[in-house]
Amino acid sequence: MATIKIRNTNEVIEGEENVLQFLEAQGVLYEKWDTAKLPAALQNETHINDEDKEQVLSTFDSEIRSLAERRGYHNWDVIALNEKTPDLDALLKKFEQVHTHTEDEVRAITAGSGIFIIKSEDKGYFDVNLAPGDVISVPVNVPHFFTLTDERQVVAVRLFIEKEGWVAHPFQDPEFEQAK
Ligand SMILES: [Fe+2]
Repeated sequence: MATIKIRNTNEVIEGEENVLQFLEAQGVLYEKWDTAKLPAALQNETHINDEDKEQVLSTFDSEIRSLAERRGYHNWDVIALNEKTPDLDALLKKFEQVHTHTEDEVRAITAGSGIFIIKSEDKGYFDVNLAPGDVISVPVNVPHFFTLTDERQVVAVRLFIEKEGWVAHPFQDPEFEQAK
């Protein structure tokens, strides 16, 4: 279950109803997938090969198609990051820059964990800590970035309207520098 921390106030938001309500007010889609559906060998396993990634996609085929139908996604894939990922530190450094996209950014965490840092309309930046089964979509043009938690590993399904729409546009924000 996702938890939220508001950076300016250190307020923590927990519990399904509270998290849902907060994210809804921010225009952020939040849903859950049942990761118990994954084959046992893939449950909370981030060291996966291409065949395993196909298995992740086929396990969640109906969930993916439901999202795609509702929200217009045409492509999807699986990304896996762990300590064996070449240049993980450099990759994370690249991730950890506030940016926007011209389409929404949807991620379903199927193993490991991750954090989306998102700028709200009225509360500054907040962290959404994501666990396996958490599905989130950052709205179009909302400043944000993604990073890993201390366990530094994740498997996520990504859905795209068009891959070009997902190009990151850097967002320079003095407010973010203050909220670090
Ligand atoms: Fe992004």
